[in-house]
Amino acid sequence: MMLVTRRETFSAAHRLFKPELSDDENYSIFGKCSNPNWHGHNYTLEVVVSGEINKDTGFVIDLTKLKEIIRKNVISKVDHKNLNTETDFMKGIIPTSENIVMRIWKVLSGKIPSGKLYSVKLYETENNYFEYKGG
Ligand code: NI
Repeated sequence: MMLVTRRETFSAAHRLFKPELSDDENYSIFGKCSNPNWHGHNYTLEVVVSGEINKDTGFVIDLTKLKEIIRKNVISKVDHKNLNTETDFMKGIIPTSENIVMRIWKVLSGKIPSGKLYSVKLYETENNYFEYKGG
């Protein structure tokens, strides 16, 4: 199986909280990410496409096209944004990395012009990453 990966980075603010809980209760569940005054992360996103090699081009997917699709549909909506209040595809959901990566999968699925979406990975820190493969 051939896998092709495009990496993009973005910086975004968020707050993990449930509005019906007090700040102390939110802190006990979400820790520092519940800070009422927001905070940011420098995220790294990896989009992996699987597929056969096109005999004419030698490509599984044109990486320039993949880059443009990711930037138009995802990066432009999250980079230097507040994920709680500004990102349309994050409306109504707690912006944990699990939820962000699942929503990014939904945004990108169906938009991949050749091959198929294999996985989406989101690195919140150097030590934590989250991967979704659909299903
Ligand atoms: Ni956080």
